Amino acid sequence: MSEKLKKPEIDMERLTHIVNSYKYQKWSLIPLVQDIQAEFGFIPPESIPIIADALNLFPSEVQGVVSFYAQLYTEPRGRNIVRVCRGTACHVRGGKTVLKLVKKQLGLQENQTSEDLEYTLETVACLGVCALSPSMVINNQVYGNMNPKKLKLLFKGEEDS
Ligand code: FES
Repeated sequence: MSEKLKKPEIDMERLTHIVNSYKYQKWSLIPLVQDIQAEFGFIPPESIPIIADALNLFPSEVQGVVSFYAQLYTEPRGRNIVRVCRGTACHVRGGKTVLKLVKKQLGLQENQTSEDLEYTLETVACLGVCALSPSMVINNQVYGNMNPKKLKLLFKGEEDS
C-alpha cells in the first residue's frame, strides 16, 4: 500500500452498532467482520478490541482470524479494484507489458492503493478467460486482448466517467 495513503475516518457509532448486533454471539466472528468490511471496505484496526470485547474473545484471537483469511482486508482498498492476470496464457501474450503499463498509468505497484482511494492494483494467477489473454478485470468487468492502445483508452474512459 502507498505510504501516503490516508486512512478514512471511521464512523465509530456505526461500527459499534454493527458489533452490538452480534454481542455475545462468540461464533459470529466471521459474519461480524464480513459486515464490518461490507460497511467500511476493510476491517479497521480500532474495531479489533471492540469486537473482542463484544464476543468475549481475546483481541489476538480476533486479529488472528482477520489476518488468516485473504478475503478480509486490514487496509483500506480503492473504489475500483484493478486485477491484472499474471497467468501463463496472459504472460506469453504480453501480460507482463500490460501490468507494467497499468502500474505506470495508475502510479501504483502491486497491492497498492492510490492515496485518493480510487484504485487498488492487484495481480491474479488466472482470471479464467485465457482465450482473451492478455486480460484484466476492473471491478467485475473483464477486459481482454489488452494492448497499449486499449489500455490508454480504457483508463482515459475511467477518468472521464
Ligand atoms: S492466464 Fe490469464 S486469464 Fe488465464
